[in-house]
Amino acid sequence: MPRMRLDKLLAHLNCGSRKEVQVMIRAGRVQVDGTVERDPAAKVDADNAQVALDGQVQQYQAQRYYMLNKPAGVITASRDARHDTVLDLFPEEMRRGLFAVGRLDKDTEGLLIVTDDGALSHALMSPVKHVYKVYEAVVEGDLLPDAATRFAAGLALKDGTVCLPARLEPLAGGDVQRVRVTLREGKYHQVKRMIAAVGGAVVQLRRVQMGGLQLDPELAAGAFRPLTEQELALLQQPTQESI
Ligand code: URA
Repeated sequence: MPRMRLDKLLAHLNCGSRKEVQVMIRAGRVQVDGTVERDPAAKVDADNAQVALDGQVQQYQAQRYYMLNKPAGVITASRDARHDTVLDLFPEEMRRGLFAVGRLDKDTEGLLIVTDDGALSHALMSPVKHVYKVYEAVVEGDLLPDAATRFAAGLALKDGTVCLPARLEPLAGGDVQRVRVTLREGKYHQVKRMIAAVGGAVVQLRRVQMGGLQLDPELAAGAFRPLTEQELALLQQPTQESI
């Protein structure tokens, strides 16, 4: 039967870093088989011991998948000395092992998947998989009359980079110009550069969908929640639609 140090086991259970869980253990927040254990070096039976933190029994989780509604003003990175990051929106004890799938600009809002599943991340970001991403943008300036046709044909950006066919659709928007952009690749600042190439400027950008998964309209900016199994399946299923 594998015996393991308690601090190591709790770190494996994603309760925090080794240092963080040592503090929790010494503070009396951890129980092993119903008894408080204050020694981080205590050896426990990793397979059979019931380990609780703050009264909550901890179990090995399979992989973790969260939908985050990224607010503007935070950067898509795990750690940054100068800026708030998307991972700072998660409690310290949850952050270990998590990362964002792909990148949204600092001023972009909306759907971001945060997970510890590297294989899923790779599959979603792989250029050959062509996972669809849908954005809604508020745009200033007069777009060329044939902007949508240019998007559909494979637009050339101002620097000559040619994009895969994409969709540009108007959205009802009152006194501002709103568009929906559907892409199946993820070049740097791609939506902003595509809109610039057809005469406009993006003043607000929000991702609302990735693959078959839509941003939960009930999820406030800055909030996250676990994906349901159904949502995870939607994210993983091959795209049916074509541009
Ligand atoms: N395109 C952009 O220009 N910015 C983003 O954050 C995402 C797509």
